[in-house]
Amino acid sequence: MAGASAIVAAVTTQDPDLSPLEHTAQVLRWQADACRGLGSPLYGDLLTHAADDLLAGGPTADVLSGHLSDRLGTVLALRMLGGAHALALSGQAPDLAAWYPSAGGVADARPGSPRAWAALRGTMASHGEAIRSWLARPPQTNEVGRAAALLGGLRYVAAEAELPIRLVEVGASAGLNLRADKFFVPGDAGNYGDPASPVTLKGAWQGDAPPEGRIDVVERTGGDLAPVDPGTAEGRLILTAYVWPDQSDRLERLRGALKIAARVPAELRAESASATLARTELVPGTWTVLWHSIFRQYLDQAQREELSDGVGALAVAATRAARFAYVYLEQSRAGSCPVVLTTWPGGHGRVLGSAPAHGIPVTWRREH
Ligand SMILES: C[S@@+](CC[C@H](N)C(=O)[O-])C[C@H]1O[C@@H](n2cnc3c(N)ncnc32)[C@H](O)[C@@H]1O
Repeated sequence: MAGASAIVAAVTTQDPDLSPLEHTAQVLRWQADACRGLGSPLYGDLLTHAADDLLAGGPTADVLSGHLSDRLGTVLALRMLGGAHALALSGQAPDLAAWYPSAGGVADARPGSPRAWAALRGTMASHGEAIRSWLARPPQTNEVGRAAALLGGLRYVAAEAELPIRLVEVGASAGLNLRADKFFVPGDAGNYGDPASPVTLKGAWQGDAPPEGRIDVVERTGGDLAPVDPGTAEGRLILTAYVWPDQSDRLERLRGALKIAARVPAELRAESASATLARTELVPGTWTVLWHSIFRQYLDQAQREELSDGVGALAVAATRAARFAYVYLEQSRAGSCPVVLTTWPGGHGRVLGSAPAHGIPVTWRREH
């Protein structure tokens, strides 16, 4: 969803003379550029074709009819492609699956991906209603690569005091990163974790590796307004469908994390971040570590204030016995995402490093 902010920014220069149809075609082209920029040439090509098809009154126009005035922040293009991807993944659209590496197909090597587009266009024509049902659903991803930032943060926390960790995540999506300690990070300056883990975060840490420190997670809890249950086939399909089909690294990480989630339980509640914070208490003899990633941008001003009040209350309650750490990876105005850690008592805040929106690589800073 990192492309969404680029699209929302672009729309402020929207030509007021454009019709809703032309405007939506332009949005599809912006999303195409965003996808290319974020490493999905396939979606870049498919959305470029879809924009032309929309203007020509093809199947894209039927699928999107009634949605041409949707607000841009709804990332309509990604909802539509998520629906088509789900059909390919679930065996209902084998012609499309043939061109989606995520579904066992091959990449269309011809410039502009004409064969993949023909298959998508055919799928939209034959399964339009099924795809339309996804237009009402906000894209819901859980980006496992972002755990690279959390893991580094946990190492700094453990280096400060080696205590059991109670992990709390707000905006947790499916809660996959509540199992971050079970992932493996290989690195020149030392590895983290078990090389046999189903999740390997390759190339995840650049610069000075975070300090050594034993990470012992004893509790995992989180909340999300729209949690996805990784324990159900539907939940797994939703999470997979919103990953772009030609992004094999992201898919591999997601599929590995789903395997870990099946054996490492984590509590995940349907609740707002403020509700998660309200039920969080510090416990003597432990670190309580609050974490979030690419979530703050979805909060309005009042919700941001609730978040910072909740953090403030935990900070005040922290003692040397019952410690509190707050680590996040969030988009800055400059575009990249700093990894920020603050620990209490003391309120020692520092920017540990920075990462792109999908989390890998994190470039760790030398000085804090
Ligand atoms: C872009 S997703 C990121 C999910 C996850 N943190 C990750 O990095 O993969 C943002 C998440 O924030 C959730 N969210 C938005 N507003 C929220 C709120 N006020 N309280 C709790 N969750 C919220 C959304 O439902 C969504 O799952």
